[in-house]
Amino acid sequence: MTVTAVRVHRFTEPETLRIERIAAPTPEPGSAVVRVEVASVNPVDWKTAEGKYAPVGEDKLPIVLGRDLAGTIAEVGNDLDGWSVGDRVCAFIDQARGAQAEQVLVTAGELVRIPDGIESEVAGALPLAAMTAWQGLFDHGELREGQRVLIHGAAGGVGHLAVQFARWKNCTIFATASGDDLDFVRALGADTAIDYEAERFEDIATDLDLVFDTQGGETQQRSFTTLKPGGILVSTLEPDEAAAAAHGVRTVPRWHATPDAAALGHVLDLVAQGTVRVEIARRFGLDDVEAAHRFARTDHPRGKVVLTV
Ligand SMILES: NC(=O)c1ccc[n+]([C@@H]2O[C@H](COP(=O)([O-])OP(=O)(O)OC[C@H]3O[C@@H](n4cnc5c(N)ncnc54)[C@H](OP(=O)(O)O)[C@@H]3O)[C@@H](O)[C@H]2O)c1
Repeated sequence: MTVTAVRVHRFTEPETLRIERIAAPTPEPGSAVVRVEVASVNPVDWKTAEGKYAPVGEDKLPIVLGRDLAGTIAEVGNDLDGWSVGDRVCAFIDQARGAQAEQVLVTAGELVRIPDGIESEVAGALPLAAMTAWQGLFDHGELREGQRVLIHGAAGGVGHLAVQFARWKNCTIFATASGDDLDFVRALGADTAIDYEAERFEDIATDLDLVFDTQGGETQQRSFTTLKPGGILVSTLEPDEAAAAAHGVRTVPRWHATPDAAALGHVLDLVAQGTVRVEIARRFGLDDVEAAHRFARTDHPRGKVVLTV
C-alpha cells in the first residue's frame, strides 16, 4: 500500500518539494500508525529542504517533511499498551519520520491523547511550537512566577504560545511584533506590546529576568542590555555566548526542542481549560504545501499555518 507524502530528494534554495506516493508505514513494536488529519508548517521544514537544518544532512535524503501532526490511530504495533485504533492523538515526532503525509509512524513516547473538545487543527498546530516555547521558557530559562520577560516575535507560531505561557505564570510581559499585530499580542496577555519596526525595544523593556529570542542577529545583540545582572537570554537560534558573558548575563548553548509527551499533554490541558489558545493563520491542502511555505515565510501570518491532509 502507498500513501501521499511531501518529500525532499535534494537540498536546493529555494526548496524543491515533491508530492509523491511512498510505501505506507507498517506498525513497529511500541509504535502506532497514525492517519494524519492535520500537519503543521514550521520554519524547520524549509530550513531542512534548503539544507540549513544541521541535524539533517545529505545522507538522510530523501526525507518526508513535517515534525508535528494530529490524527487518529490506524494500526497499533506490538507492546503498545493503552492505545487503540481510532484514538485521537497528536505528536511532535523525530525528524527521521515526516508528518506531512497521509500516514506516519509515531512512537509510544511521542503519542499524546487529544482531550475531547479540542479540534484536530488546534492539536496538530501545537506540538513543535508549544514544546519550543515551553522548553525555552521553563526548562532552559527556568522562568518563575512573576518574573519580567521579553518575548521577541510574539505574534509568530512559537511566540504567541510563549506569551500565553508567561501570562499563565503571572509574569510581566514585554512582547515585540509588527504594528498590525500589537493588539493581537496584547489580547494574548502581553503587558507592553512593542512595534519592532518603529520602536527601540531596549528603551522600553528593562531590568528583565529573561529574554526569549526567536530572531537572533541584531535583535539578539540588542537584547543583552535589557537583562538585569545574572538574567538569562534563551534563543531558539544560535546564542552569542561571548556577548552574554561580556554583558554579565547568562545564555544557554544552541538547543533544539524535543518531543515531550507529558509537557505536551499539560499544554493541551491548558488549551482545554481556555488558558491557552492556538491561532490558526491559514489552512492549506497537502497538495498546496509549497504555497503554504510561501505564505508562512512572506505573508506575516499570525500564529500557525497548517496543512489539512
Ligand atoms: N530551536 C528550536 O528547537 C526551534 C524550534 C522552533 C522554531 N525555531 C526557530 O525560531 C524562529 C521562530 O519560529 P516560529 O515558528 O515562531 O516562526 P514564525 O511563525 O515565522 O514567527 C516569527 C515571528 O517573528 C516576527 N519577527 C520578524 N522580525 C522580527 C524582529 N526583528 N523583531 C521581532 N519579531 C520579528 C515575525 O513577525 P512579522 O511576520 O510580522 O514580521 C513573526 O511573527 C525560527 O527561526 C525557527 O526556525 C527554533
